[in-house]
Amino acid sequence: MSELPHVRGSYWLQTAPGPSRPTLEEDLHVDVAVIGAGVAGLSAAHELARAGRQVAVLEAHRVAAGVTGHTTAKLTALHTLIYDRLRRTRGPEAARLYARSQSEAIEHAAALVDELGIECEWERRSAFTYACDAGRVDELRAEAEAAREAGLPASFVTETGLPYPVAGAVEVTDQVQFHPRKYLLALADDLVARGGQVYENTTVLGLEEDGPCRLATATGATVTARDVVVATHYPVFDRALLFTRLSPRRELVVAGTIDAGRDPGGMYITPDENTRSVRTAPHQEPGKRLLVVTGERFTPGTGDTRAGFDRLAAWAGEHFPGVALTHAWATQDNDPTDTVPLVGLLHPGARHTYVATGFGGWGMSGGMMAGRLLTALITGQDSPWRELYDPRRLLSTVREAPSFLKHQAQVARHFVGDRLRPVPPVEAVPPGEGAVVRAGGDRVAVYRDEEGRTHAVSARCTHMGCLVSFNAAERAWECPCHGSRFDTDGKVIQGPATRPLEPREV
Ligand code: FES
Repeated sequence: MSELPHVRGSYWLQTAPGPSRPTLEEDLHVDVAVIGAGVAGLSAAHELARAGRQVAVLEAHRVAAGVTGHTTAKLTALHTLIYDRLRRTRGPEAARLYARSQSEAIEHAAALVDELGIECEWERRSAFTYACDAGRVDELRAEAEAAREAGLPASFVTETGLPYPVAGAVEVTDQVQFHPRKYLLALADDLVARGGQVYENTTVLGLEEDGPCRLATATGATVTARDVVVATHYPVFDRALLFTRLSPRRELVVAGTIDAGRDPGGMYITPDENTRSVRTAPHQEPGKRLLVVTGERFTPGTGDTRAGFDRLAAWAGEHFPGVALTHAWATQDNDPTDTVPLVGLLHPGARHTYVATGFGGWGMSGGMMAGRLLTALITGQDSPWRELYDPRRLLSTVREAPSFLKHQAQVARHFVGDRLRPVPPVEAVPPGEGAVVRAGGDRVAVYRDEEGRTHAVSARCTHMGCLVSFNAAERAWECPCHGSRFDTDGKVIQGPATRPLEPREV
């Protein structure tokens, strides 16, 4: 079994720390305010600046350091098994538009890499969706056919570069793997060079839509803008109940070095074994490549993450003997109930507010696509895939009802059931652990640090009141309802919550 690494943190963040950007302290007037500096927000801001708009990006934490800084950074139009499903549920034309929109976004990014001379470890590789279980071969054949019909260079294959046999795979050639932060930090620099503004540690708390849009920030500064883009992964402003159509999930990642000769030479994903995803990247050590393995998906705030990391590390060691794991981190995605991202106007009455969310595990191509689509909408052009991604599309009872109802039942179960769970006394919480306890008639989230000090905060998530749970491997409080995350002192790590968990006495 391969040893779990001691470095807990994203390889992408460690190898591209990036400069600090200012916090917004004074009122601002711009054409477009973009909330969120991940791949979708920065892609939109950059495109809008190229189109001559005055743009400000407002990021609650650091640029490209949230979900985008923790991705596996596969830039591909092959999204596991989406094409056969799209063809059946929304028709062949929708599948074609999906493939075209994602592929054009990738090629647009390729052109930017060339034009701006961005050094971001850009490598062309095939993307594979594979299965070791022979029972899934028909599914893979159907996906290969649907992807080809949709216009992708796709085929069904039985040979891959993986060091173990597969029953079959869909291969799409000429896709991309890259270093997401090196790409996005360069995009942010170019945005600033074009007169755009990028602010960090600037949390947006309020949005008014009458007349020009007005954003209130935590520092007291306001931003007035004709158009606003909400690109905060899970939308912090949700005026169309989008949260009912998005299920958050986390996935664990381990990375380490392998001999370059063992590089499987592609990007792989399988729905087998609670998902496994594999890619490599250049490494500074001569003769080595970085192996990145992802899997063990779970709903935030549920499951045993330590055991998940152990399983993933063991899988990496078993399938890539000799791998020396150096990094471990986790990533978070929002799955839309009908598998298609939600990109466009924020709600049915919206005229100048837009949203980009629900990219599933495919936020790189999806975020870049969103940047281009939103720019088209904001600058008054039409787009062939506007309707496909329109967040206001109606819930289809046939295609969405099962996953929609399942998600709602899950949220209800957490909202009610988590309050009925027995809780330990505060003395029972050992050092390095956290638990929800009862104190003064309320539920309190208590973390005991290694020195034995307790850190107590309200266990009620500030988004919509579900109870948070402790993720021991990542030392964070997580909300299972919509995926908000907080540090052990209650500070927001990830939305949709924007306010911290309140301090409590125990
Ligand atoms: Fe919605 Fe916690 S994230 S209630």
